[in-house]
Amino acid sequence: MWDYSEKVLDLFYNPKNQGAIEDPNQDGVAVVFGEVGSIACGDALRLHLKIEVEADKILDARFQTFGCTSAIASSSALTEIIKGITLDAALNISNRDIANYLGGLPEEKMHCSVMGQEALEAAIFKYRGIEVEQHEDDDGALICSCFGVSENRIRRVVIENNLTTVEQVTSYVKAGGGCSSCGAEIEDLIAAIQQEKELTASRVAAEIATAQAQNRPLTTVQKINLVQTVLQEVRPMLLADGGDVELYDVEGDTVKVVLKGACGSCSSSTATLKNAIEVRLRERVLPTLIVEAVS
Ligand code: FES
Repeated sequence: MWDYSEKVLDLFYNPKNQGAIEDPNQDGVAVVFGEVGSIACGDALRLHLKIEVEADKILDARFQTFGCTSAIASSSALTEIIKGITLDAALNISNRDIANYLGGLPEEKMHCSVMGQEALEAAIFKYRGIEVEQHEDDDGALICSCFGVSENRIRRVVIENNLTTVEQVTSYVKAGGGCSSCGAEIEDLIAAIQQEKELTASRVAAEIATAQAQNRPLTTVQKINLVQTVLQEVRPMLLADGGDVELYDVEGDTVKVVLKGACGSCSSSTATLKNAIEVRLRERVLPTLIVEAVS
């Protein structure tokens, strides 16, 4: 028996916002759904959104799921979290926000929170007409064929949730939970991500230490090097969402970047800039950095 929080059990026994949303055929209101998972794999979620077009706001959210206790509770939690907020704000909801709302989930059940976040993104991207590239021809190749999980998806969940083992990856996105033939590849990927992270941290620390030892601020060249290093760390998460980022220039404390793909065409690009890029650059490089998008 899983050790579920009271909130999980409450939302399982008394689910909120279950069912579909009928198209109201009303001016200024749109209805869309996003879907993830497959019944063949055991879990599937369809998330329905009713959107106030002018305000770009979620008026109502409902779900249909073929899943377990935590899938029902996670979907209920998600619909409660996103009702009344803008689509941009909704795109900032992470799987951890869903798990936190529930007072936590057993690690083996974290994939239910990931499924909620992915269904939300799928619905919003569909509404906005954003095609998410599959990146089949690059590093986003399929790693787990049993569950159809790509390298980019695993990268994203590992980075966002600080995962360190194959078992954890299986708990979050199911990869590795079937025939296990992809286990070694997942392990290598986790090790590579870990290494990249350590390399980034040590490069940044070395540059900053050099500048401090010489009692001078970072030069523009040093800033560019550091920003490039940190952007390389952020890119896999953007790629997983069908976007990308490229450094354009650094002027003083202003970092100019070009957002590409889904990031560039998405009206939540400001949120991407502030939350995914600026926060990291301020943490790792300089707390005074400001990130701006150029087209
Ligand atoms: S290929 Fe990943 S579990 Fe089978």
